[in-house]
Amino acid sequence: MTTRYCAILPRVRHEPHLEEPYRMTALSHIQSGLVSRHIFSDRAVYEQELERIFARCWLFLCHECQIPKVGDFFSTYMGEDPVLVTRDSQGKLGAFLNVCRHRGNRVCRADSGNASAFVCAYHGWTYGNDGKLIAVPSLKEAYYDELDTSKWGLMPVAQIASYKGLVFATFNPSAPSLHEYLGEMAWYLDSFFDGREGGAEVLPGVYKWTIPCNWKLAAENFCGDGHHVGWTHLSAIQMGFSQAQSAKASGMGRQVAMSNGHGMLGFAPSEAIDPAVPEILAYEESIRAEVRERLGPRLDIVEPVVATVFPSFSMLRVTSRTMRVWHPRGPNRTEVWAWTYVDKAAPDSVKNAFRLAGARGFGPSGTFEQDDMDNWQECTRTAGGPIARRYPLNTTMGLGHEHPGDELGGMTSDYRFSEMTQRNFYQRWAELMHVSDA
Ligand code: FES
Ligand code: FE
Repeated sequence: MTTRYCAILPRVRHEPHLEEPYRMTALSHIQSGLVSRHIFSDRAVYEQELERIFARCWLFLCHECQIPKVGDFFSTYMGEDPVLVTRDSQGKLGAFLNVCRHRGNRVCRADSGNASAFVCAYHGWTYGNDGKLIAVPSLKEAYYDELDTSKWGLMPVAQIASYKGLVFATFNPSAPSLHEYLGEMAWYLDSFFDGREGGAEVLPGVYKWTIPCNWKLAAENFCGDGHHVGWTHLSAIQMGFSQAQSAKASGMGRQVAMSNGHGMLGFAPSEAIDPAVPEILAYEESIRAEVRERLGPRLDIVEPVVATVFPSFSMLRVTSRTMRVWHPRGPNRTEVWAWTYVDKAAPDSVKNAFRLAGARGFGPSGTFEQDDMDNWQECTRTAGGPIARRYPLNTTMGLGHEHPGDELGGMTSDYRFSEMTQRNFYQRWAELMHVSDA
């Protein structure tokens, strides 16, 4: 385990004169809860992440309700690659590199819309909403009809699939099925997005902004960092925006660490009540029986609050119902795309209450969001210091006290505050970074 990161940090191996603390930080002893700061600042590590994490894992693209009709499309990214998600004229979902096969222009510049074809702005190559190249200007005169257009359509993702309306894709043809990839995380997704008949829908509009932080800090926080809430968000709690203060006092709840790096934090059912908006609290109470009926007895043990589908799709149920993608934009930049999701069956007034709570809590200027961004930014900034990064991060909370929790679908903690899911996240990260076929 101690050599896990050597391949991505070779320079450290060539400096044997350095003191032990430096060597330890670079080797990032995940299993003992230590994480190298180099992985938050090193450009070479970042480039490797794009290849070994983002080009291989299943990544969230959009919700099906965002492209309900034939011809609808949605522009997003998989890692740093622009991707166009379409519902073609046959109603079939597809996703393609949003990159012109001619000379590489980004084909579709709109965020979303409806189109039967996409015309490249540079020289006019035109693609159908099924990705096929359907028109090339001057094909006869300039190409002498010698260009085989059937070979120059948009490049499709290797696999695309949906789970409960959530559309994912991977560029890895040998990746396991989405079902297998999600594993036990599927039930937790149910708890967020399928608690009521009809499932969830995403409210119109998206918040997009950039944080000067490494993407992993955000993603692993959403794996279930319950510990930061009472500190980072204390002012919001004292203002009455959240009821998390009582939650902090009891500490009841569990982290659940699942295969493939997915992580979740849940509270004891009676404590997962937020935000302090009367209409939302009344609504949550009114649907409790239906949700319990649909999700089953696991809900009596733990009520999911926050989670990350490895590597970069996160969701939160209290304070706001937000879901977001952490798009990597370099070792010290992350572009956040965040939406508010609601139960489709909820009354419009409740949906609007969630919309407002989402904006106030987890929009880019939201009370909670600003708190988090500030800390992730400084964690990233300090990782760039040549002396500071000699010393590892400490994710040892609860180490050795986690245990298999079959009834919860993964390793669990007995206490709400733990860093087990963070260790699980970095463990999976390390496996993918180090092992070529992990
Ligand atoms: Fe798209 Fe030339 S780059 S048509
Ligand atoms: Fe937070």
